[in-house]
Amino acid sequence: VKKTVVAPTNIAFVKYWGKHPTFERYHVPNKSSASFTVEGLFTKTTIEVKEGNREVEFILNGKEITPEMKEAKYVYAFLDKVEERYPFIKNYDYKVVSENNFPTAAGFASSASGFAAFARCLVEVLPEFEEIRTNDRAISILARLGSGSATRSIPRDGGVVIWRRGIAPDEANIDVESAINSSYAETLYKPEEVGEIRIIYVKVEQKEKKVKSRAGMKTSVQTCPLYWEWIKHDETKLLPSILDALKNKNWELFFKLVMEASNGLHAICHYTYPPIFYLNDTSKEIISTIHEINNNAGKEICSYTFDAGPNAVIFTTEEHADEVAGSVASIVGEESIFITKVGKGPKVDNEHLF
Ligand code: PMV
Repeated sequence: VKKTVVAPTNIAFVKYWGKHPTFERYHVPNKSSASFTVEGLFTKTTIEVKEGNREVEFILNGKEITPEMKEAKYVYAFLDKVEERYPFIKNYDYKVVSENNFPTAAGFASSASGFAAFARCLVEVLPEFEEIRTNDRAISILARLGSGSATRSIPRDGGVVIWRRGIAPDEANIDVESAINSSYAETLYKPEEVGEIRIIYVKVEQKEKKVKSRAGMKTSVQTCPLYWEWIKHDETKLLPSILDALKNKNWELFFKLVMEASNGLHAICHYTYPPIFYLNDTSKEIISTIHEINNNAGKEICSYTFDAGPNAVIFTTEEHADEVAGSVASIVGEESIFITKVGKGPKVDNEHLF
């Protein structure tokens, strides 16, 4: 049996950064996060299975991934955790062919679309998964075992997605299964409901990130003196206000809070020991330019957000997209920007996309 899934990436405007200390292995987050599903940036994954004993052949972007390579380690770690919950996966051999239509590990969060496509495709291809095949909540939990950010790329309606943190970070007296199942993703608003939003990807650097998000967030949880205050602030103040601004289409407030959320993440990174610096001079120039555009407009008409790398993602509305893209292009060049919209979630068997 063979199935193909195309899964989009997502860009968080309320960030995930840090795992529940007791349930770290299962990527239970310390706070909820929220994202836009991104149209046009995706991973396409084909899985072919036959009876066997969990031998895996893995081809990523046309390159064979051998067991000692780091990409393989992520995949095996994922399959180990899936097998704990669904032992039948060990009775098959897998050929996995996966392709991104954008550069891996350049801050464009390919692990999000990568593990989303992998998890959904696994659920499509193995007959024993039939009972969860239409259950995005369960599939989002499965994808999370691969990568936290992949959780938000699972809901098939896409749009604005919330990944609920589940159990509180100080709650440890609970069985593993309930802890794992407490945290999942779901669509809050469909793409049409935020149809005027434009998302501009700005490539600042192609190189792989220096400190991987996985290692970086672990160090922040362990060493940043303000980490838990920040978690509480984002969960109880920032998240409700930002979702409210979205609901009311109060773009001015939404854009302002998006920038605060990104700045909060990078402040926490700077206050981690040793400090983690993801932004470079070009990232900072983009930040200044966005504030300049907003100052000239007399209100927030656009915002930036940064993840674990120097690349920027800009949000604006259709009305201002050309102006904002033009200003950013004058810094990085026309060829380094990609303008898109909020899109739908994963699709099965969409061969024509490549
Ligand atoms: O799940 P990971 O390891 O891709 O971590 C993602 C962390 C950030 O991209 C920085 C934030 C986020 O919520 O996507």
